[in-house]
Amino acid sequence: MAQTKRIRMPSATSLVARSYPDRIIGVENALPWHLKTDLKHFRMRTQGHAIIMGRKTFESIGKPLPRRVNIILSRSPIADTVNVKWADTPETALMLADYHSILLQKKEFFIIGGEEIYNLFMKYINKVFLTEVFCGHINGDAKFDVDFDNKEWRFHSEKDFLKGDGDQFPFRISCLIRRKPLHRLFSKEYFMGRGKDISDVWDKYVAMIERSDSDIMADEQQLDFFSDL
Ligand SMILES: NC(=O)c1ccc[n+]([C@@H]2O[C@H](COP(=O)([O-])OP(=O)(O)OC[C@H]3O[C@@H](n4cnc5c(N)ncnc54)[C@H](OP(=O)(O)O)[C@@H]3O)[C@@H](O)[C@H]2O)c1
Repeated sequence: MAQTKRIRMPSATSLVARSYPDRIIGVENALPWHLKTDLKHFRMRTQGHAIIMGRKTFESIGKPLPRRVNIILSRSPIADTVNVKWADTPETALMLADYHSILLQKKEFFIIGGEEIYNLFMKYINKVFLTEVFCGHINGDAKFDVDFDNKEWRFHSEKDFLKGDGDQFPFRISCLIRRKPLHRLFSKEYFMGRGKDISDVWDKYVAMIERSDSDIMADEQQLDFFSDL
């Protein structure tokens, strides 16, 4: 059987909130702060998409996030449900994220932590929404210790938020874009036998990806990525 053309897979974006300047993201398997507006931003970006997280983050959230395909990385089995999918390797997590994004007709999926998972997937992440929380020095046991080198990353936009109703500390959300994005390419055959047949949606996905260069331009021309917050 002739292989169909290899197509660009959905792109990985990360959302992460870390303390400034210590880069702490968690303490005793919980977030060190409560930021209602940042959670709203997280929800707004991720709803309707596939998300990849580590088993510890999944436990810390305590339930699958609704209206998202929750892909959980763990070496021990996790029961699959309609919106929970277990991945025992990073490669399986990426394959599941690609497969479900194609079914959902999305060109982006999200890596949502924690520390181990950010480190594991960093080379695949093409865009980061970085929340810096101005909470002063705090203790924690999970970090996001990544430098966004100007040679590799282009700073796109940022918005500052004041401490206030439901937001325990002031914070800033920045969007960073990898200058040379990593594009993974696969043909339709790669997904055969992995679950529901994707033939019906494949052509629509391909058409969307072929249009997407101009979509990216349109995204980037938005003056304010955060206007809805
Ligand atoms: N501030 C933020 O934006 C943010 C976001 C997310 C999480 N967090 C915080 O981060 C902390 C959790 O981070 P963490 O680093 O401790 O845990 P994690 O990254 O959430 O999960 C780690 C787990 O992932 C699984 N895993 C890792 N590498 C794997 C591999 N190669 N193959 C298969 N499974 C693998 C293992 O699960 P098993 O042990 O089951 O095998 C491992 O214990 C929490 O405090 C959480 O609140 C903060």
